[in-house]
Amino acid sequence: MGFDSRFYDQAERELKDIQSRNAAVLEMRIKETETRFPVTGELRRAIAATSGKLIALIADRSGDIKPKLRELELENLSLQEKLRLELVRAGYPEDYLDPIYSCRKCRDTGTYEGRLCSCFMERVKKAASDELNASSPLKLCGFDEFRLSYYDDSDHTSLGATARKIMEKNLELCRKYAEDFHLPYSSILMRGRTGLGKTHLSLSIAKTVLEKGYSVIYGSAPDLFRRIEKEHFGNSGGDTLDMLIKTDLLVLDDLGAEFESKFYVSAFYNILNDRMNSQLPTIISTNLELPELETRYGERISSRLSTMTKPIFVGSDVRMLKKQ
Ligand SMILES: Nc1ncnc2c1ncn2[C@@H]1O[C@H](COP(=O)(O)OP(=O)(O)OP(=O)(O)O)[C@@H](O)[C@H]1O
Ligand SMILES: [Mg+2]
Ligand SMILES: [Zn+2]
Repeated sequence: MGFDSRFYDQAERELKDIQSRNAAVLEMRIKETETRFPVTGELRRAIAATSGKLIALIADRSGDIKPKLRELELENLSLQEKLRLELVRAGYPEDYLDPIYSCRKCRDTGTYEGRLCSCFMERVKKAASDELNASSPLKLCGFDEFRLSYYDDSDHTSLGATARKIMEKNLELCRKYAEDFHLPYSSILMRGRTGLGKTHLSLSIAKTVLEKGYSVIYGSAPDLFRRIEKEHFGNSGGDTLDMLIKTDLLVLDDLGAEFESKFYVSAFYNILNDRMNSQLPTIISTNLELPELETRYGERISSRLSTMTKPIFVGSDVRMLKKQ
């Protein structure tokens, strides 16, 4: 299973854009240096001439080409050295006229050691997750919009701290998690009753991580499971399951709100297990308590969930408070 071909097409288009943008920058640099310091132009042409001769020589199989080859190589190297010196003397970096590559590994070809380069696969994943996120409320929530004043600051909770203190810790946990995001990374299970900010904070993390350039998929469990089911039993095609397994960060919101089904449980197990095996982080939010999660999803899932960081959300329904 792989990603839909239109995402590969998009990655290829982006790569071509990068190539032509870098080529245009190099062209500008060549013109600029040549206008200001004509000697750099002469040296560049001399280097091009020796490279041309080198290629011709290699193609010519008659006789012993080794001595001539060596001579040309040395000439080429010394011309390049001269060009570097001239550039530095003129106040430019010595590699100012070298080809420009955005990816050092594949030199913007998209392939590296006979396989698709990681930079290319990142583009494919990004294109795919952009499409899936297009309809999500990602833009609406940020850490800066998260107010602690909604949470009760008086001392009557049975949790050993005020609701505000607990939520302050949760906010810090999420903010730090987003800021320090890297791969491989740990996972988070957010638990708590309705309207306490679980979705708000998971979206805030998703937004920050996306801005860092990672691929992120956000979706509610009912939506994503339904999509997987439709693709599995229908003939529409699609690769949601594969995308959920491979994306850098998966945010699975509202776990437990989906219709109860064996198929969903097994899809969830596959996602969770595959992601954990590849040490990819997942953020899950749910209204269910740990024992309820175990009853509903079984031991194999609940034991995996128990390894996650598990902040508990407390307080009174912010959705209601905001309405008042
Ligand atoms: N601390 C907060 N500051 C500002 N807005 C908040 C805060 N907490 C929640 N909200 C807002 O209140 C509404 C409900 O919050 P949210 O959707 O995050 O709750 P939830 O915990 O995901 O609830 P549910 O379990 O029902 O999914 C959202 O519009 C959210 O932006
Ligand atoms: Mg929610
Ligand atoms: Zn690359």
